[in-house]
Amino acid sequence: MKKLKLKAAVSGFLFTAILMNSAWSAQEEKPGTGFAWKDGAEIYAKICAYCHEANVGPQIRNRELPAIYIRAIVRNGSRAMPAFRSSEIDDESLAKVADFISQKASQY
Ligand code: HEC
Repeated sequence: MKKLKLKAAVSGFLFTAILMNSAWSAQEEKPGTGFAWKDGAEIYAKICAYCHEANVGPQIRNRELPAIYIRAIVRNGSRAMPAFRSSEIDDESLAKVADFISQKASQY
């Protein structure tokens, strides 16, 4: 019985998460065709810094976080951190920004 309740709670949560996710991306999904970021620094400055340089999210630069960890968090989200789908940040851009963040910073 307990197990069944947990299952219902988990699927309820997933349903809400999926709904919220599509509401979020509906507003953001317009990069236009042929759009490309210049480099990881630009992606960080234009997307991540909005929260991560504004005390909304924790500091992520200069902590030598592994790039693979950063990529996983961005794709899946983590508590208050929203997930970004490939229509929002494509794989190549995500790899660039993750490398940029995991490197030791020179300009901040
Ligand atoms: C809308 C605000 C927002 C944006 C935009 C955002 N983040 Fe986050 N991020 C957060 C918050 C808030 C947390 C803390 C999540 C928690 O633990 O509740 C977080 C956590 C993280 C973590 C985990 C940090 C740790 O201490 O383990 C990583 C990695 C991360 N974000 C990467 C990124 C990257 C890369 C981008 C840009 C592509 C980005 N975030 C954009 C809000 C944001």
